[in-house]
Order: sequence, then structure tokens, then C-alpha cells
Amino acid sequence: MTTPRLDVHLTDADLTDALRADVRRGLTAEPKWLPPKWFYDACGSELFEAITELPEYFPTRTEWALLEQAADEIARLARAQVLVELGAGSAAKTRLLLTALTGEGLLKSYVPQDVSSSALLDSARQIAGEFPHLAVHGVVSDFTDTLHNLPSGGRRLVAFLGGTLGNLLPAERAEFLRDLRDLLDPGEHLLLGVGLVVAPDILVPAYDDAAGVTAEFNRNMLRVLNYRLGADFDPAEFAHVALWDPVNEWIEMRLQALRHTVITIRDLDLTVRFDRDEQLRTEISAKFRLPGLRRELSAAGFDTARTWMDPDSRYALFLAERR
Ligand code: SAH
Ligand code: AVI
Repeated sequence: MTTPRLDVHLTDADLTDALRADVRRGLTAEPKWLPPKWFYDACGSELFEAITELPEYFPTRTEWALLEQAADEIARLARAQVLVELGAGSAAKTRLLLTALTGEGLLKSYVPQDVSSSALLDSARQIAGEFPHLAVHGVVSDFTDTLHNLPSGGRRLVAFLGGTLGNLLPAERAEFLRDLRDLLDPGEHLLLGVGLVVAPDILVPAYDDAAGVTAEFNRNMLRVLNYRLGADFDPAEFAHVALWDPVNEWIEMRLQALRHTVITIRDLDLTVRFDRDEQLRTEISAKFRLPGLRRELSAAGFDTARTWMDPDSRYALFLAERR
């Protein structure tokens, strides 16, 4: 088996520095907020995997079925020599793409990227074992600010699956798509998997499951703040909240203080006061409509070559070509 190469552009110390800046900004803001990338330490990545198995969380299995249906056509259209995957996580569904691309006979390497080094190392090792002819080259980095760190050379297909695009705010999303356009050469492809706007009675339970796994995933962010910055959150003192925002068409996850509390963040020399019932926003998960996302892609410099949607119109795959 070839050992995967791993480039670390985000060390533990870099992560702590970035978290310090985000916490100082987000916990002194009104209302309080933090970016969702702080869910994903080793424990958060495992909790996300558990979420993907929940009966209420339909996106993963829906995307899986779409990839089974579309992988061969994606491989034919993209003719990729390199598959780059942003926010790859466990890369479970990626096997479908790797198999189809291998069938086209051009694929030479797989470049999974993620902020979570533990998840990345596991998936890179497993894929290197399953696809011994492929060079596997993992990259630990933040896709919102370091796309230029990805290796170049060979015709690329960039996959961004799981609906993770929806975790960016609209302005961040536009910037991210422009950065991707700048990264790619004309004729290279982007494969996006996104959740679609569906009825709140289906969507909200997907983010507020009966077993409480999503609640633990949400509270994990407080544990990350505790061990990385010496904060003294008691996660049990915060309730998980998931709500549908019909104006922005996104799910919002929040943590709500069960009582008035003052948190000390030792390494920042900061105390943060939460009033009873005050909420901290930890994630948005935007849902899309096909024409709107097509317009966003076009504005960023991509032509949509093909879309696939499940029979219940809950999820879509977009294959877009860099103009
Ligand atoms: N693509 C997988 C995992 C989705 S979960 C799937 O479809 O199931 C979101 C993944 O993105 C996690 O693995 C998380 O660690 C990663 N992630 C979140 N924010 C990130 C960021 N800013 N930069 C890089 N990776 C990020
Ligand atoms: C990774 N991301 C697209 C997931 C989502 O659906 O927004 C994260 C998640 N949050 C709660 N459940 C799953």
C-alpha cells in the first residue's frame, strides 16, 4: 500500500490562534456567534459521522443515491486526472466517484482536504489502501482562506459534497466560489452537493434528532473552547436549538443558556456574560433552489453542465465547468 502524503497548512498552534480571534470577535458580538468549523475536532468529526446515520438526517443518504446514479456520467464529463475534495471528512461517498473516475482510466491522484486532521488521516489511509494505484495527498487547511495551498497539475475535478457550501454565509459563499474559479483552469470542473429548500417539518428534525446526537455535536463546540482556550463552559447548561429561517432559507443552530452565567476564557483574559435564554449561533445551513445556485455559479465564472435531483427534490448535485 502507498502511504498517503499529508501536508499540514494548519498546525495545532495555527488552529488555536484562529480560534482565539474567532472567539474574541464572535463572543463579544451582539448577537453572539461562532463559525461552524469549530465543531470538527476528532470528537466532532465522529459525531458528524453518527449524524449521517440518523433516520432524520436525510442529506447524506440522498447524496449517496444521487452519486450512485450520476458517478459514471460525472467521470465522463470531467475526464479528471486529479480529484480534489474539500471538507472531505470520512470521504465515505467519495469511493463512488473514485471508482467511476478510475473506470475512465485517467485518474492519477486524490487530494482530500479538511480542517480536521484526524478525520483526514483516517480517510486518506483507508482510500490509499482501497485504491493502491492512486497517489493520495491529504491537505490539512481551511477552505475559506487557503485554497491556493492545494497542489496543482493535471486536469482537476473539485468535489464539495455534503451540503457544506450551505455552512458559509452568502458573502463568504460568493467569495469562496470566486476563489475556486481563480484556482481552476478553464474546462476544469466543480461538483457540488447541496440541500434544497424543503418543508420545515422535514428539515428541522434533521437538525434536531430524537436521539440527541445533533445536540451533542452542537455542544461539542463548547468543549473545544474549554480545552483549546481554557474556557469554563458547562455544556449541560446550554440547550440545543435548531430553527428554520424562512427569509434567508437556512437552518440555524444555536446554543441557548439555560440560566444567567458568566464564562471565563482564561487564555484570552476574557469574561463573557450570557443572560438566561441568550443564544449563541453556531451554524447556518443554507438550503438552495436550482435557479438561484445556477445564477451564483454563473456569477462566479462557472457554467452548470448538469444537475441531478432526488425524486423528492430534497437534494441536488451540480456539475459546473470553469468558463
Ligand atoms: N464531505 C463529507 C463531510 C461533510 S461534514 C460528507 O459529505 O459527508 C463537513 C466537513 O468539512 C468536515 O469534515 C469538517 O471538518 C470540514 N470543514 C468544515 N469547515 C471547514 C473549513 N473551514 N475548512 C476545511 N474543512 C472544513
Ligand atoms: C456539514 N454540514 C453540511 C452539515 C449540515 O447539514 O449543515 C453539518 C450538520 N449540522 C448539523 N447537522 C449536520
